[in-house]
Amino acid sequence: MPNLLLLPSLLVLTLSLEVLAPPPYHTLVAPILKHTNANTSLYSITLNYHEHYVIDVDAPFNWYRCQLRHPPVGCNAPECAVARSYLSPSCPISNNTYKYGQCYCNDTPVNPVTGSCALSQSTYNDLIIYWTNGRFRITAIIFSHSYVSCAPTSLLQSLPKEAIGVGALSWSSLALLSLFTYNAGLEVARKFALCLPSSSRARGTIFIGDGPYYLLPPTNAASVLSYTPLRGDSISLGYFINLTGITINGNAINVPWDAFDFNVNGSARLSSIVPYTTLRSNIYDAFLKEFTKAVRGIAQVMNVDPFSLCFNTSTIGLSRQGLRVPQIDLILGNGEKWTIYGSNSIKQVDNDVGCLAFGDGGKTVKQAVVVGTYQMENNFLLFDLDQSRLGFSSSLLPYGTTCGGFNFTVGGIV
Ligand SMILES: *[C@@H]1O[C@H](CO)[C@@H](O)[C@H](O)[C@H]1NC(C)=O
Ligand SMILES: *[C@@H]1O[C@H](CO)[C@@H](O)[C@H](O)[C@H]1NC(C)=O
Ligand SMILES: *[C@@H]1O[C@H](CO)[C@@H](O)[C@H](O)[C@H]1NC(C)=O
Ligand SMILES: *[C@@H]1O[C@H](CO)[C@@H](O)[C@H](O)[C@H]1NC(C)=O
Ligand SMILES: *[C@@H]1O[C@H](CO)[C@@H](O)[C@H](O)[C@H]1NC(C)=O
Ligand SMILES: *[C@@H]1O[C@H](CO)[C@@H](O)[C@H](O)[C@H]1NC(C)=O
Repeated sequence: MPNLLLLPSLLVLTLSLEVLAPPPYHTLVAPILKHTNANTSLYSITLNYHEHYVIDVDAPFNWYRCQLRHPPVGCNAPECAVARSYLSPSCPISNNTYKYGQCYCNDTPVNPVTGSCALSQSTYNDLIIYWTNGRFRITAIIFSHSYVSCAPTSLLQSLPKEAIGVGALSWSSLALLSLFTYNAGLEVARKFALCLPSSSRARGTIFIGDGPYYLLPPTNAASVLSYTPLRGDSISLGYFINLTGITINGNAINVPWDAFDFNVNGSARLSSIVPYTTLRSNIYDAFLKEFTKAVRGIAQVMNVDPFSLCFNTSTIGLSRQGLRVPQIDLILGNGEKWTIYGSNSIKQVDNDVGCLAFGDGGKTVKQAVVVGTYQMENNFLLFDLDQSRLGFSSSLLPYGTTCGGFNFTVGGIV
């Protein structure tokens, strides 16, 4: 979608006394934190040095718990119409506010965990992020006057306590990718890489732009990617891929030929909120059956909520990519495979108990598959909106690196 709507002014922070020459870098970088509690596993992007925004790849715009005083957005601002056009069907319409003969924009952000909405005032804030040469951080840059929704604190319920709001990473013209790439002079390509950490102690990485994307020991993640077409849905704003089958140790799970049929919404959606990949009931049943068959010989133990197949992992060997369990492949329409090894298929819930980390999405879900975050951890995912394709690495562990491998040191300008 062309992003002609936003013309915020731009400032470049330079550490030296140099004038505002265009920077020689074309890639931005920010850390990703993992937040876990009993019910959720969420990830946030850190902007403005220390502000955490929960990553939502489906959200149409950013929102946060803002300052009491904030600049209003006029109803005629083009962003106002865009933000208001993304009204979730579950939310009430928010009217704009008329005051002293002026019209001020309101919108309706949604909490991605609870699904609740809140009437909110539209405003602008500054977003600070870092340039990178692909190997370490160089210098901060401010994107000033960025559209954001000023939500009431109550909307943060069920989000991690460290988070102040939600960072949108959809392909909406108000989402972070558009805010960071609208300025043709900066030559930041319309693509972002999401590399979710597997632990709250590691800092994952989001890159915006063309790269390179180095993770220690120096591995350019771009060199280990396979690609598959990436599609968008103008209504829900999600990201979809054409998944056509699932195999376990090379054996296709037994589902009707049309189980994965690609409708306009796509057969598989990528979610940054759903913790474990969910499969439509008929697919899940076949998947569970095939996996159970493939792990014959491994001791099963009592199931632990919310999982339905758990093992005594003390008897399972370890490899570089986690427990030695049957390999799962997501078969994609263009012939590529997204391979899932033990580190992304089994969730360790206790010292010697691990469970198959997939869930039953229900009989009536729109998508055959919703790829959840546990399956994305330590996988490098490049959402390339310029070329409408998804680059994916499968697990980074066999390459000797993880999503915690970026060097966040701020280095000199070289
Ligand atoms: C988890 O969910 C349950 C039931 O939905 C709720 O009672 C509990 O407070 C939640 N726990 C946390 C830490 O959010
Ligand atoms: C919004 O405006 C409409 C038409 O003026 C009115 O009927 C409705 O009650 C208003 N809604 C709210 C939430 O104020
Ligand atoms: C997605 O699927 C639903 C139900 O089949 C349909 O109503 C909706 O229009 C689809 N989305 C798009 C963008 O077509
Ligand atoms: C797992 O197996 C080990 C070794 O056989 C045993 O000591 C342990 O109690 C088992 N754990 C569970 C949860 O069954
Ligand atoms: C998905 O992939 C299958 C198998 O290659 C192909 O037949 C189908 O046309 C693809 N669907 C879309 C929408 O690209
Ligand atoms: C991280 O980057 C800094 C700044 O360039 C550099 O001095 C340091 O050696 C790097 N660390 C590693 C482990 O490469």
